[in-house]
Amino acid sequence: MNEIAQDLNREILQVNPHVYELLSELGKKLYYPKGILTQSAEAKQKAHRFNATIGIAMEQNQPMFLPLIQKTLTNHDPKDLYPYAPPAGKPELRQLWREKMIIDNPSLTGKSFSNPIVTNALTHGLSIVADLFINENDSLVLPDKIWGNYNFIFGIRSGAKNVTFPFYTEEGGFNTLGMKEALLSKKEHGKAILLLNFPNNPTGYTPNEQEATGIIEALIDVAEQGMNLVVVTDDAYFGLFYENSIKESLFARIANIHPRVLAIKVDGATKEDYVWGFRVGFITYASEHPAVINALEKKTLGIIRGTISSASHPSQTFVLNALQSPDFQTQKQEKFEVLKNRALKVKQILEKEKYRDAWDYYPFNSGYFMCLKLKGVQAEDLRNHLLDQYGVGIISLGESDVRVAFSCVEEQEIEQLFDLIYQGFKELSA
Ligand SMILES: Cc1ncc(COP(=O)(O)O)c(C=O)c1O
Repeated sequence: MNEIAQDLNREILQVNPHVYELLSELGKKLYYPKGILTQSAEAKQKAHRFNATIGIAMEQNQPMFLPLIQKTLTNHDPKDLYPYAPPAGKPELRQLWREKMIIDNPSLTGKSFSNPIVTNALTHGLSIVADLFINENDSLVLPDKIWGNYNFIFGIRSGAKNVTFPFYTEEGGFNTLGMKEALLSKKEHGKAILLLNFPNNPTGYTPNEQEATGIIEALIDVAEQGMNLVVVTDDAYFGLFYENSIKESLFARIANIHPRVLAIKVDGATKEDYVWGFRVGFITYASEHPAVINALEKKTLGIIRGTISSASHPSQTFVLNALQSPDFQTQKQEKFEVLKNRALKVKQILEKEKYRDAWDYYPFNSGYFMCLKLKGVQAEDLRNHLLDQYGVGIISLGESDVRVAFSCVEEQEIEQLFDLIYQGFKELSA
C-alpha cells in the first residue's frame, strides 16, 4: 500500500479505530498524492516569474479562451471560468457553503466537522461514500421508500446489500424502531451504512422533533451495542420544510454523537437552488478529531482525482456568485413560497370526499413530491392509462404507489391534475 495512504490510516487508527474499521478496502488504499497538483499549488504561491506547471494554456496573464465562448459569459472573469478548479472545489465556495450550513443548521454550532468538499452534485457525493466505505456484501440500511438510483450507486457499483425497513409506522410517522431493528439485524457484521434522506424522495416526508430525537437515541443505542455506523444524510431537498417537521439536517444532530458513528452530509445546490444541470454538490464529514477529518478529506480528494479529477469551474462560479448576491435570500424565499403553496394546495385538494375510495395518501410535509397509495388499481396500469388517455405523467412505484411531483405543476392546475388521476383510476377500477 502507498506510504501516504498508510500514514493516513495510522492517523485515523490512533484517534478513532472505529472509523478505520468502517473504511472499505478501496477507502483504505486511497490518499492524495504529492503530484502535479500539489506542485502547481506551491507554484501558484511562489512562482512569480514563470509558472510552467499546470496543464492549461495562458495568454496575456489570463487563461486562454475562445472569444465566441467568452461572448456568452461576459459577466464573468475568464479566471473564474476556464482554469481547472482545485479538486476540493473553489475555496471561497467551500467556505461560504460551510457558513451557510451553520446558519441553516443551528445544532452544528460548536461541532467539529470538515470543510465541505465540492462534488459533481449529489450523485457523485453518494458514490464517494460508496467508494470509501462499502465493501462487497456490506449492509446498506435504508427505508423501503427511496430514490431508485441508490441501487446503482451502492448496490450495482459497490456490491452493498440492501437491508430495508418500512418507512412509516402504522400511525404514519417515521419508523424509527424499524430502522433500529434493521441496523441490529446486521450486528454480527459489526458495521452498517445507514442512508437517510429528508425531505424524502419519493414521500415528501421529514421527521418531526420527537421523531428526530428518537432517531438519535436509536443510533446511540446501536453504537453502544458495538456496531460501527456510517450515517449518510442525503439532503438533496434541504430547506423545503413546509410544516411541522424539523427544519435542519439530521447530520447536524448526528455529528459526533458517538465514536462509533461517522456522520456524513451529502448536499448541494442541485435542488435547493434550482440548478439541476449545474452539477454542484458537497460532501462533509463530522469528527471530533482533526486527524480523522484531514485523512477523510485526503482520501476523498484521492478518489475525486482518480475519477472526475475536479468538478466544473464555471458551475462553481455561478453558485458562488449566487450565494454572494444580496438578492439570494429574497429570491430563494419567493421560490420556497411557490412550492409551499403547491404542497398545501395538494393537501387541501386531497381532502375531497370523492377521492376516499380511490387512494390514501402518505403523510408529507416537505420537498418536491408526495405519494398516493391506490386502492385496488395497479400503479403501473394507472400510469400507462393516464399517459395514453390524458397526457398525464406520474411515476409508479411498486404495486400500489404513485409519486406526484407537485414541484412541476402550477398551483392553479393541481386540482385538475388530481381530478384526471381520479378519472383514470375510476376507469380502471370500473
Ligand atoms: C434523494 C435524491 N438524492 C440525490 C439526487 C441526485 O442529485 P444530483 O442531481 O445533485 O446528483 C436526487 C435527484 O433526483 C434525489 O432525489
